Amino acid sequence: MTENTKTSDFPILACNINNHRLVYLDNAATTQKPKCVIDAVSNFYLKHNANVHRGIHTLSEEATEMLEETRRKVASFIDAVVPEEVIFTSGATDSLNIAARLVEPKVQKNSVIVTTELEHHSNFVPWQELAKKTGAVLKVIPVLSVGSFDYQKTKEILLQKVDIFAITHVSNVTGEVIDVKSLVKIAKAKNPDCLVIVDGAQAVGHMPVNVQSLDCDFYAFSAHKMLGPTGVGVLWIKRDLWDKFNPVKFGGGMISEVSLSKSTWDVAPYKFEAGTPNIAGIVGLGAAVGYLNSIGIEKIYGEIRELTEYALEKLGKLGIKILGAEDTKKRLGVVSFNVPSIHAHDLASVLDSLGIAIRSGHHCAMPLHTALKIPASARASFYLYNTKKDIDELVKGIIKAKEMFRV
Ligand SMILES: Cc1ncc(COP(=O)(O)O)c(C=O)c1O
Repeated sequence: MTENTKTSDFPILACNINNHRLVYLDNAATTQKPKCVIDAVSNFYLKHNANVHRGIHTLSEEATEMLEETRRKVASFIDAVVPEEVIFTSGATDSLNIAARLVEPKVQKNSVIVTTELEHHSNFVPWQELAKKTGAVLKVIPVLSVGSFDYQKTKEILLQKVDIFAITHVSNVTGEVIDVKSLVKIAKAKNPDCLVIVDGAQAVGHMPVNVQSLDCDFYAFSAHKMLGPTGVGVLWIKRDLWDKFNPVKFGGGMISEVSLSKSTWDVAPYKFEAGTPNIAGIVGLGAAVGYLNSIGIEKIYGEIRELTEYALEKLGKLGIKILGAEDTKKRLGVVSFNVPSIHAHDLASVLDSLGIAIRSGHHCAMPLHTALKIPASARASFYLYNTKKDIDELVKGIIKAKEMFRV
Protein backbone atom coordinates (compact mmCIF):
# COMPACT_ATOMS: atom_id res chain seq x y z
CA MET A 1 0.00 0.00 0.00
CA THR A 2 2.11 2.90 -1.23
CA GLU A 3 -0.95 4.80 -2.37
CA ASN A 4 -4.16 4.86 -0.41
CA THR A 5 -7.36 5.88 -2.11
CA LYS A 6 -9.09 6.41 1.24
CA THR A 7 -6.74 9.20 2.38
CA SER A 8 -8.71 11.84 0.50
CA ASP A 9 -11.82 11.00 2.56
CA PHE A 10 -10.08 12.42 5.65
CA PRO A 11 -9.82 16.23 5.40
CA ILE A 12 -7.34 16.56 8.29
CA LEU A 13 -4.77 14.44 6.44
CA ALA A 14 -4.31 17.30 3.98
CA CYS A 15 -2.90 19.47 6.82
CA ASN A 16 0.69 20.54 6.97
CA ILE A 17 2.36 20.24 10.36
CA ASN A 18 5.58 22.17 10.88
CA ASN A 19 5.80 22.65 7.09
CA HIS A 20 5.59 18.93 6.42
CA ARG A 21 2.80 16.68 5.20
CA LEU A 22 1.00 15.28 8.26
CA VAL A 23 1.97 11.64 8.84
CA TYR A 24 -0.54 10.56 11.44
CA LEU A 25 0.66 7.47 13.32
CA ASP A 26 -1.16 7.95 16.62
CA ASN A 27 -4.24 5.94 15.72
CA ALA A 28 -4.23 3.81 18.85
CA ALA A 29 -4.92 7.03 20.77
CA THR A 30 -7.63 8.19 18.39
CA THR A 31 -8.37 7.83 14.70
CA GLN A 32 -9.11 10.65 12.26
CA LYS A 33 -12.64 11.12 10.95
CA PRO A 34 -13.81 10.77 7.38
CA LYS A 35 -15.90 13.59 5.95
CA CYS A 36 -19.04 11.40 6.06
CA VAL A 37 -18.75 11.12 9.87
CA ILE A 38 -18.15 14.86 10.28
CA ASP A 39 -21.14 15.54 8.00
CA ALA A 40 -23.37 13.08 9.86
CA VAL A 41 -22.70 14.86 13.17
CA SER A 42 -23.24 18.33 11.73
CA ASN A 43 -26.28 17.21 9.73
CA PHE A 44 -27.83 15.88 12.94
CA TYR A 45 -27.48 19.25 14.63
CA LEU A 46 -28.52 21.14 11.49
CA LYS A 47 -31.64 19.15 10.71
CA HIS A 48 -32.65 16.62 13.35
CA ASN A 49 -31.59 17.78 16.81
CA ALA A 50 -33.99 16.74 19.58
CA ASN A 51 -33.85 14.46 22.59
CA VAL A 52 -34.52 10.77 22.07
CA HIS A 53 -37.13 8.34 23.41
CA ARG A 54 -39.12 11.18 24.96
CA GLY A 55 -40.93 13.48 22.63
CA ILE A 56 -43.96 12.73 20.52
CA HIS A 57 -42.87 15.16 17.87
CA THR A 58 -41.23 14.73 14.50
CA LEU A 59 -37.69 15.78 15.38
CA SER A 60 -37.61 13.60 18.49
CA GLU A 61 -38.86 10.64 16.48
CA GLU A 62 -36.21 11.28 13.82
CA ALA A 63 -33.45 11.55 16.43
CA THR A 64 -34.65 8.35 18.10
CA GLU A 65 -34.70 6.50 14.81
CA MET A 66 -31.18 7.72 13.96
CA LEU A 67 -29.87 6.53 17.32
CA GLU A 68 -31.60 3.16 17.04
CA GLU A 69 -30.33 2.77 13.48
CA THR A 70 -26.78 3.04 14.85
CA ARG A 71 -27.60 0.45 17.50
CA ARG A 72 -28.70 -1.94 14.75
CA LYS A 73 -25.60 -1.20 12.65
CA VAL A 74 -23.22 -1.71 15.58
CA ALA A 75 -24.99 -4.92 16.60
CA SER A 76 -24.60 -6.34 13.14
CA PHE A 77 -20.96 -5.13 12.94
CA ILE A 78 -19.97 -7.17 16.02
CA ASP A 79 -22.43 -10.00 15.40
CA ALA A 80 -24.61 -9.37 18.43
CA VAL A 81 -27.69 -11.57 18.70
CA VAL A 82 -30.05 -8.58 18.93
CA PRO A 83 -29.50 -4.78 18.83
CA GLU A 84 -30.63 -4.46 22.45
CA GLU A 85 -27.34 -6.08 23.49
CA VAL A 86 -25.61 -2.83 22.47
CA ILE A 87 -25.47 -0.29 25.30
CA PHE A 88 -24.24 3.20 24.47
CA THR A 89 -21.71 4.67 26.88
CA SER A 90 -19.21 7.53 26.77
CA GLY A 91 -16.27 5.32 25.75
CA ALA A 92 -14.41 2.09 26.46
CA THR A 93 -13.31 3.37 29.87
CA ASP A 94 -16.91 4.10 30.82
CA SER A 95 -18.00 0.70 29.46
CA LEU A 96 -15.40 -1.16 31.52
CA ASN A 97 -16.23 0.80 34.67
CA ILE A 98 -19.93 0.04 34.16
CA ALA A 99 -19.12 -3.65 33.66
CA ALA A 100 -17.12 -3.70 36.92
CA ARG A 101 -20.00 -2.07 38.80
CA LEU A 102 -22.60 -4.38 37.23
CA VAL A 103 -20.79 -7.53 38.31
CA GLU A 104 -19.99 -6.21 41.79
CA PRO A 105 -22.92 -7.99 43.53
CA LYS A 106 -21.59 -11.30 42.16
CA VAL A 107 -18.17 -10.70 43.70
CA GLN A 108 -17.56 -11.72 47.29
CA LYS A 109 -14.65 -11.94 49.65
CA ASN A 110 -12.25 -14.51 48.18
CA SER A 111 -13.87 -14.49 44.71
CA VAL A 112 -11.11 -14.60 42.12
CA ILE A 113 -10.71 -11.77 39.61
CA VAL A 114 -8.10 -12.31 36.90
CA THR A 115 -6.59 -9.74 34.61
CA THR A 116 -3.19 -9.29 32.97
CA GLU A 117 -0.11 -7.10 32.91
CA LEU A 118 -0.85 -6.33 29.27
CA GLU A 119 -3.97 -4.29 30.02
CA HIS A 120 -4.68 -0.63 29.43
CA HIS A 121 -5.38 1.03 32.81
CA SER A 122 -9.06 1.17 31.84
CA ASN A 123 -9.22 -2.62 32.03
CA PHE A 124 -6.97 -2.87 35.05
CA VAL A 125 -7.81 -0.22 37.65
CA PRO A 126 -11.59 -0.94 37.76
CA TRP A 127 -10.79 -4.58 38.68
CA GLN A 128 -8.12 -3.58 41.16
CA GLU A 129 -10.64 -1.27 42.82
CA LEU A 130 -13.37 -3.91 42.75
CA ALA A 131 -11.05 -6.40 44.47
CA LYS A 132 -10.14 -3.82 47.09
CA LYS A 133 -13.78 -3.01 47.76
CA THR A 134 -15.06 -6.59 47.95
CA GLY A 135 -12.09 -8.45 49.41
CA ALA A 136 -11.81 -10.52 46.23
CA VAL A 137 -8.42 -11.90 45.22
CA LEU A 138 -6.92 -10.10 42.21
CA LYS A 139 -4.62 -12.30 40.15
CA VAL A 140 -2.57 -10.48 37.51
CA ILE A 141 -1.11 -12.72 34.83
CA PRO A 142 2.47 -11.61 34.12
CA VAL A 143 3.68 -11.11 30.56
CA LEU A 144 6.62 -13.07 29.17
CA SER A 145 9.98 -11.30 29.33
CA VAL A 146 9.60 -9.69 25.87
CA GLY A 147 6.17 -8.34 26.79
CA SER A 148 4.05 -10.94 25.05
CA PHE A 149 1.04 -12.77 26.40
CA ASP A 150 1.73 -15.90 28.46
CA TYR A 151 -0.83 -18.50 27.34
CA GLN A 152 0.66 -21.27 29.47
CA LYS A 153 0.48 -19.28 32.69
CA THR A 154 -3.00 -17.99 31.82
CA LYS A 155 -4.24 -21.51 31.25
CA GLU A 156 -2.84 -22.63 34.62
CA ILE A 157 -4.63 -19.77 36.38
CA LEU A 158 -7.94 -20.23 34.52
CA LEU A 159 -7.91 -23.91 35.48
CA GLN A 160 -7.89 -22.91 39.16
CA LYS A 161 -11.47 -21.55 38.86
CA VAL A 162 -11.94 -17.92 38.16
CA ASP A 163 -15.03 -15.78 38.83
CA ILE A 164 -14.21 -12.69 36.77
CA PHE A 165 -11.78 -12.64 33.84
CA ALA A 166 -10.97 -9.27 32.26
CA ILE A 167 -8.79 -9.42 29.17
CA THR A 168 -7.79 -7.23 26.27
CA HIS A 169 -8.48 -8.35 22.70
CA VAL A 170 -5.58 -6.39 21.17
CA SER A 171 -2.80 -4.76 23.22
CA ASN A 172 -2.56 -0.99 22.81
CA VAL A 173 1.22 -1.23 23.32
CA THR A 174 2.43 -4.30 21.44
CA GLY A 175 -0.51 -4.77 19.07
CA GLU A 176 -0.62 -8.43 20.09
CA VAL A 177 -3.93 -10.05 19.21
CA ILE A 178 -5.03 -12.31 22.04
CA ASP A 179 -6.81 -15.58 21.29
CA VAL A 180 -9.69 -14.64 23.57
CA LYS A 181 -11.96 -17.39 22.24
CA SER A 182 -9.72 -20.23 23.40
CA LEU A 183 -9.24 -18.58 26.82
CA VAL A 184 -12.98 -18.12 27.33
CA LYS A 185 -13.44 -21.80 26.55
CA ILE A 186 -10.93 -22.78 29.24
CA ALA A 187 -12.34 -20.37 31.85
CA LYS A 188 -15.95 -21.45 31.27
CA ALA A 189 -15.15 -25.17 31.15
CA LYS A 190 -13.76 -24.85 34.68
CA ASN A 191 -16.42 -22.43 35.94
CA PRO A 192 -19.52 -21.99 33.75
CA ASP A 193 -20.45 -18.94 35.87
CA CYS A 194 -17.17 -17.17 35.16
CA LEU A 195 -17.92 -13.72 33.73
CA VAL A 196 -15.59 -12.67 30.93
CA ILE A 197 -15.12 -9.01 30.09
CA VAL A 198 -13.21 -8.17 26.91
CA ASP A 199 -11.59 -4.82 26.17
CA GLY A 200 -12.01 -4.47 22.42
CA ALA A 201 -10.89 -0.83 22.12
CA GLN A 202 -8.07 -1.70 19.69
CA ALA A 203 -9.92 -4.52 17.96
CA VAL A 204 -13.31 -3.29 16.72
CA GLY A 205 -12.96 -1.59 13.35
CA HIS A 206 -9.51 -3.15 12.93
CA MET A 207 -10.40 -6.82 12.60
CA PRO A 208 -13.57 -8.88 12.34
CA VAL A 209 -15.11 -9.18 15.82
CA ASN A 210 -17.85 -11.68 16.52
CA VAL A 211 -19.01 -11.49 20.12
CA GLN A 212 -21.11 -14.64 19.83
CA SER A 213 -18.19 -16.66 18.65
CA LEU A 214 -15.93 -15.29 21.41
CA ASP A 215 -18.61 -16.38 23.92
CA CYS A 216 -17.62 -13.60 26.33
CA ASP A 217 -20.18 -11.83 28.54
CA PHE A 218 -19.26 -8.16 28.10
CA TYR A 219 -17.36 -6.49 25.25
CA ALA A 220 -16.24 -2.85 25.47
CA PHE A 221 -15.02 -0.39 22.86
CA SER A 222 -14.81 3.28 21.86
CA ALA A 223 -16.24 4.96 18.76
CA HIS A 224 -13.29 7.32 18.37
CA LYS A 225 -10.80 4.50 17.72
CA MET A 226 -12.83 3.35 14.71
CA LEU A 227 -13.42 6.66 12.87
CA GLY A 228 -16.31 7.76 15.08
CA PRO A 229 -16.60 10.80 17.36
CA THR A 230 -15.13 11.07 20.85
CA GLY A 231 -17.41 10.70 23.86
CA VAL A 232 -19.22 7.60 22.57
CA GLY A 233 -18.59 3.99 23.44
CA VAL A 234 -20.31 0.65 23.52
CA LEU A 235 -20.75 -1.99 26.15
CA TRP A 236 -22.11 -5.16 24.60
CA ILE A 237 -23.93 -7.21 27.23
CA LYS A 238 -24.90 -10.78 26.43
CA ARG A 239 -28.68 -11.13 26.31
CA ASP A 240 -28.85 -13.88 28.98
CA LEU A 241 -27.37 -11.46 31.51
CA TRP A 242 -29.77 -8.53 31.18
CA ASP A 243 -32.04 -9.68 34.00
CA LYS A 244 -29.22 -10.83 36.23
CA PHE A 245 -27.83 -7.33 36.79
CA ASN A 246 -29.25 -4.21 38.31
CA PRO A 247 -28.44 -0.95 36.59
CA VAL A 248 -25.60 1.06 38.11
CA LYS A 249 -26.61 4.48 36.82
CA PHE A 250 -29.99 5.92 37.70
CA GLY A 251 -32.09 8.78 36.39
CA GLY A 252 -34.12 9.66 33.34
CA GLY A 253 -34.73 7.26 30.48
CA MET A 254 -34.02 4.04 32.39
CA ILE A 255 -37.05 3.62 34.62
CA SER A 256 -40.37 1.89 34.21
CA GLU A 257 -42.09 3.49 37.22
CA VAL A 258 -40.99 5.74 40.03
CA SER A 259 -42.88 6.20 43.29
CA LEU A 260 -41.78 7.80 46.52
CA SER A 261 -40.92 4.40 47.97
CA LYS A 262 -39.37 2.56 45.03
CA SER A 263 -38.51 2.53 41.35
CA THR A 264 -38.58 -0.16 38.70
CA TRP A 265 -36.48 -0.39 35.57
CA ASP A 266 -37.21 -0.30 31.88
CA VAL A 267 -36.09 -3.22 29.72
CA ALA A 268 -32.57 -3.49 28.22
CA PRO A 269 -30.89 -1.62 26.68
CA TYR A 270 -32.63 1.39 28.24
CA LYS A 271 -32.26 0.17 31.81
CA PHE A 272 -28.50 0.48 31.36
CA GLU A 273 -28.59 3.90 29.66
CA ALA A 274 -29.54 6.58 32.20
CA GLY A 275 -29.72 10.18 31.04
CA THR A 276 -29.44 11.84 27.65
CA PRO A 277 -26.86 10.04 25.52
CA ASN A 278 -24.40 11.68 23.13
CA ILE A 279 -26.96 11.48 20.33
CA ALA A 280 -24.96 13.32 17.67
CA GLY A 281 -21.88 11.24 18.54
CA ILE A 282 -23.89 8.04 18.26
CA VAL A 283 -25.18 9.13 14.86
CA GLY A 284 -21.54 9.76 13.90
CA LEU A 285 -20.66 6.24 15.05
CA GLY A 286 -23.37 4.94 12.73
CA ALA A 287 -21.76 6.79 9.84
CA ALA A 288 -18.34 5.39 10.83
CA VAL A 289 -19.67 1.84 10.80
CA GLY A 290 -21.26 2.54 7.42
CA TYR A 291 -17.91 3.76 6.08
CA LEU A 292 -16.06 0.70 7.47
CA ASN A 293 -18.69 -1.59 5.94
CA SER A 294 -18.34 0.11 2.57
CA ILE A 295 -14.68 -0.99 2.50
CA GLY A 296 -15.18 -4.30 4.29
CA ILE A 297 -13.63 -5.27 7.62
CA GLU A 298 -11.67 -8.20 6.18
CA LYS A 299 -10.00 -5.85 3.70
CA ILE A 300 -9.25 -3.31 6.44
CA TYR A 301 -7.80 -6.06 8.64
CA GLY A 302 -5.61 -7.27 5.76
CA GLU A 303 -4.32 -3.77 5.05
CA ILE A 304 -3.52 -2.98 8.69
CA ARG A 305 -1.77 -6.36 9.00
CA GLU A 306 0.29 -5.59 5.89
CA LEU A 307 1.31 -2.18 7.24
CA THR A 308 2.18 -3.68 10.63
CA GLU A 309 4.42 -6.33 9.07
CA TYR A 310 6.05 -3.72 6.85
CA ALA A 311 6.70 -1.45 9.87
CA LEU A 312 8.13 -4.32 11.91
CA GLU A 313 10.43 -5.28 9.03
CA LYS A 314 11.68 -1.70 8.44
CA LEU A 315 11.98 -0.74 12.11
CA GLY A 316 13.66 -4.07 12.83
CA LYS A 317 16.60 -2.94 10.70
CA LEU A 318 17.26 0.25 12.72
CA GLY A 319 18.90 -1.30 15.78
CA ILE A 320 16.04 -0.28 18.04
CA LYS A 321 14.25 -2.30 20.73
CA ILE A 322 10.76 -3.36 19.68
CA LEU A 323 8.38 -4.38 22.47
CA GLY A 324 6.43 -7.61 22.24
CA ALA A 325 6.40 -10.99 20.57
CA GLU A 326 8.78 -11.98 17.77
CA ASP A 327 5.87 -13.47 15.87
CA THR A 328 4.78 -10.61 13.64
CA LYS A 329 1.64 -12.48 12.55
CA LYS A 330 0.12 -12.00 16.01
CA ARG A 331 0.32 -8.20 15.82
CA LEU A 332 -2.20 -5.69 14.60
CA GLY A 333 -1.77 -1.99 14.02
CA VAL A 334 0.54 -1.02 16.89
CA VAL A 335 4.33 -1.08 17.21
CA SER A 336 6.07 0.27 20.33
CA PHE A 337 9.82 0.65 20.58
CA ASN A 338 12.74 2.44 22.17
CA VAL A 339 15.73 3.91 20.39
CA PRO A 340 18.75 3.33 22.67
CA SER A 341 19.94 6.57 24.33
CA ILE A 342 17.00 8.66 23.06
CA HIS A 343 14.06 9.18 25.42
CA ALA A 344 10.72 8.43 23.77
CA HIS A 345 9.55 12.02 24.40
CA ASP A 346 12.63 13.42 22.65
CA LEU A 347 12.08 11.11 19.72
CA ALA A 348 8.41 12.13 19.49
CA SER A 349 9.49 15.76 19.53
CA VAL A 350 11.95 15.33 16.67
CA LEU A 351 9.34 13.40 14.67
CA ASP A 352 6.75 16.10 15.32
CA SER A 353 9.11 18.68 13.85
CA LEU A 354 8.93 16.56 10.69
CA GLY A 355 5.12 16.39 10.71
CA ILE A 356 5.04 12.82 12.07
CA ALA A 357 2.64 12.19 14.97
CA ILE A 358 3.49 9.26 17.23
CA ARG A 359 2.84 8.73 20.94
CA SER A 360 5.43 8.54 23.70
CA GLY A 361 5.04 7.58 27.34
CA HIS A 362 3.52 4.57 29.06
CA HIS A 363 0.36 4.57 26.90
CA CYS A 364 -1.82 3.99 30.00
CA ALA A 365 -0.11 0.64 30.47
CA MET A 366 2.20 1.19 33.42
CA PRO A 367 2.13 -2.42 34.66
CA LEU A 368 3.47 -3.57 31.26
CA HIS A 369 6.22 -0.94 31.18
CA THR A 370 7.15 -1.78 34.77
CA ALA A 371 7.35 -5.48 33.85
CA LEU A 372 9.67 -4.58 30.97
CA LYS A 373 11.70 -2.31 33.28
CA ILE A 374 11.27 0.74 31.06
CA PRO A 375 9.65 4.04 32.02
CA ALA A 376 8.31 4.80 28.57
CA SER A 377 8.24 3.81 24.92
CA ALA A 378 7.51 5.35 21.54
CA ARG A 379 4.43 4.03 19.77
CA ALA A 380 3.48 4.14 16.10
CA SER A 381 0.00 2.92 15.27
CA PHE A 382 -1.64 2.51 11.89
CA TYR A 383 -5.10 2.70 10.46
CA LEU A 384 -6.83 2.28 7.16
CA TYR A 385 -5.67 5.60 5.64
CA ASN A 386 -1.96 5.01 6.33
CA THR A 387 0.47 3.93 3.64
CA LYS A 388 3.89 2.32 3.43
CA LYS A 389 5.12 5.79 2.51
CA ASP A 390 4.06 6.97 5.99
CA ILE A 391 6.17 4.22 7.52
CA ASP A 392 9.12 5.15 5.29
CA GLU A 393 8.78 8.72 6.64
CA LEU A 394 8.82 7.36 10.19
CA VAL A 395 11.97 5.35 9.44
CA LYS A 396 13.66 8.42 7.94
CA GLY A 397 12.63 10.45 10.99
CA ILE A 398 14.12 7.92 13.40
CA ILE A 399 17.38 7.90 11.41
CA LYS A 400 17.44 11.69 11.57
CA ALA A 401 16.85 11.63 15.36
CA LYS A 402 19.72 9.15 15.76
CA GLU A 403 21.98 11.50 13.81
CA MET A 404 20.88 14.49 15.88
CA PHE A 405 21.52 12.67 19.15
CA ARG A 406 24.70 11.07 17.73
CA VAL A 407 23.66 7.52 18.64
C1 LIG B 1 -6.88 -1.20 24.86
C2 LIG B 1 -7.57 0.04 25.34
N1 LIG B 1 -8.54 -0.05 26.25
C3 LIG B 1 -9.20 1.02 26.70
C4 LIG B 1 -8.91 2.27 26.24
C5 LIG B 1 -9.67 3.45 26.76
O1 LIG B 1 -10.40 4.03 25.75
P1 LIG B 1 -11.13 5.45 25.97
O2 LIG B 1 -10.06 6.40 26.42
O3 LIG B 1 -11.68 5.77 24.64
O4 LIG B 1 -12.16 5.24 27.02
C6 LIG B 1 -7.89 2.43 25.30
C7 LIG B 1 -7.51 3.78 24.83
O5 LIG B 1 -6.37 4.01 24.47
C8 LIG B 1 -7.21 1.29 24.82
O6 LIG B 1 -6.25 1.38 23.90
